[in-house]
Amino acid sequence: MRIKLPATFIAVNLFCCAAIVCAQAKPQQPPTRREYSSAGEISHPAWPPAAVRGAHAMVVSDEALASEAGVEILKKDGNAVDAAVAVGFALAVVEPEAGNIGGGGFMLVRMADGRARFVDYREEAPGRATRNMYVGPDGKVVRGRSTLGYLSIGVPGTVAGLAFAQKHFGKLTLAEDMAPAIRLAKDGFPLGAKLAASLRDSADRLGKFSHSNEIYLNNGKFYSAGEIFRQPILAATLERIAKNGPGEFYAGKTAQDLTAQMARHGGLITMQDLKNYRVHLREPLEGTYTARGAKWTIISSPPPSSGGIAILEALNILEPYKLKSWDDAQSVHLVVEAMRRAFADRAAFLGDSDFTHVPAAGLLSEKYAAERRATIDPKDASSSKEIGAGNPAPFDHSERTPAGSTIEKLSPEAAAAWMEAAAKKSGHTTHYSVVDAAGNAVSNTYTLNDSYGSAVTTTDGFLLNDEMDDFTSQPGTPNMFGLLQSKANAIAPGHRPLSSMMPTIVLRNGKLSFVTGSPGGPRIISATLLSILNWAWLGMDAQAAINAPRFHQQWMPDVVLVEPSFPQAVAKDLEQRGYHLASRQMWIGEVEAIGIDPKTGERLGAPDPRRQGAARGY
Ligand code: DON
Repeated sequence: MRIKLPATFIAVNLFCCAAIVCAQAKPQQPPTRREYSSAGEISHPAWPPAAVRGAHAMVVSDEALASEAGVEILKKDGNAVDAAVAVGFALAVVEPEAGNIGGGGFMLVRMADGRARFVDYREEAPGRATRNMYVGPDGKVVRGRSTLGYLSIGVPGTVAGLAFAQKHFGKLTLAEDMAPAIRLAKDGFPLGAKLAASLRDSADRLGKFSHSNEIYLNNGKFYSAGEIFRQPILAATLERIAKNGPGEFYAGKTAQDLTAQMARHGGLITMQDLKNYRVHLREPLEGTYTARGAKWTIISSPPPSSGGIAILEALNILEPYKLKSWDDAQSVHLVVEAMRRAFADRAAFLGDSDFTHVPAAGLLSEKYAAERRATIDPKDASSSKEIGAGNPAPFDHSERTPAGSTIEKLSPEAAAAWMEAAAKKSGHTTHYSVVDAAGNAVSNTYTLNDSYGSAVTTTDGFLLNDEMDDFTSQPGTPNMFGLLQSKANAIAPGHRPLSSMMPTIVLRNGKLSFVTGSPGGPRIISATLLSILNWAWLGMDAQAAINAPRFHQQWMPDVVLVEPSFPQAVAKDLEQRGYHLASRQMWIGEVEAIGIDPKTGERLGAPDPRRQGAARGY
């Protein structure tokens, strides 16, 4: 393996369809309401047998209307970045659970000339945020304070991020890229069964806030599938942004309305916070590996994402092993042990590298991988109680010490409780991938964190995130995804919370090969890693790489989550090796990916049927 770190990482820390020819992969029978989870996951997806082929370009997202918005822009001569911006704004209208202008995320761009850049538009803690703001007088984290309502909201980055990407890498104008979203908000669209079910399931949270209740719950009367869902207030906000640019959101009427609402309800975000918000253009992380006779370059997300470091560390650990398939318990064993170690290091060392030293060089060094690998039993499960974070310092070549390195281990009771929570938790985030005819590629994951974020809708008709929960509310207390984190990820003004989102692009012998990423909280890391192993290491075709059963181990709790489709015989074998398995009642991740056929160059749209993803190409 060969790892390329951004120079800044080593020295100090980081700075600052013609016609649509392809059909959406749809279940034959549209599922009924009960078959959707609140995150839009489907109980019985129809696994599409093959990817959607496009000779020129492809857009894959959670929603057909959003994928179509991307294709519309590509056909107007926009490039992949324009299309990605169009999809981002369109999802804010048609997938309000996760698509957003009140949240944040990451966009990984790889232009056809080989330039790869990471647009970090993650939310930030407001200036008045404090380290212990979620801890009550009894010294315990106050339930719900970081996940619902005004105190849970970080300064949104999406409008800045999409506008930045458009300006620096797009070909059209922001207004042109936003046109499909404005149309969808103004004219409305037929509400799908998935969204209708999800809105009902989230009525408890959304009903607590007047604008959410009015817009998303029809004042408690709910919407039915098939009804036209219009969002005129959101349309007006998008029109102002299209006309005035991102300044509208960060200093104009939208900013004034948002901060006035915050002030009325005890929120923290001020005009100064919005004015201070900046997109960070970062260099992605890169690792190169050999598998099946080809050289694979994994271009992935740097901090404040934890995902790039986690999967490169896992791939480094796995390097000498020959993985066969997920019907082979030995292969699953090795991948689970690599995940366990990468997640233990995530918990201890990762945070916002603009403020804290993340020992990336150490964590990604070959020698460190060898040390971590040496702790893997060839056959049996390790114990997360015994395998904690490693010591990357000797390989890090830095004078600086990481902020966090020790975190409390869990009691068995706490581990069991959190295992249950982690298995059930179905938050919502959304990932999409775009490849254009010239070979420019975009991988984008963005979020409100939980489904519908904080559940607060602004007077300007958009939902606000609850991303503050991704910080360490208190070392040793897990967040909503059961993740334990260290003081490296402590709350402080202007800091960005550690994320698992990790848009990723894979090259085969230097050429664009696979665009991937996922929602799913910490499960993002496992789902994305598995999609890459399936495509590159195991040689599955694009759709099989998405359909294949997934599994997840996040160090604590000491449990392996497996999908309902995970092979029974392998599960039994793993239990005999000492693993504790838990079925993740629903699915792990929603990987909307695009492969490139190495022979024909065709774009292979591989939507994830778990949430009824949609590939559109031409
Ligand atoms: O940035 C993160 O890691 C989380 N806010 C992502 C949340 C998520 O993926 C919700 N689930 N599907």
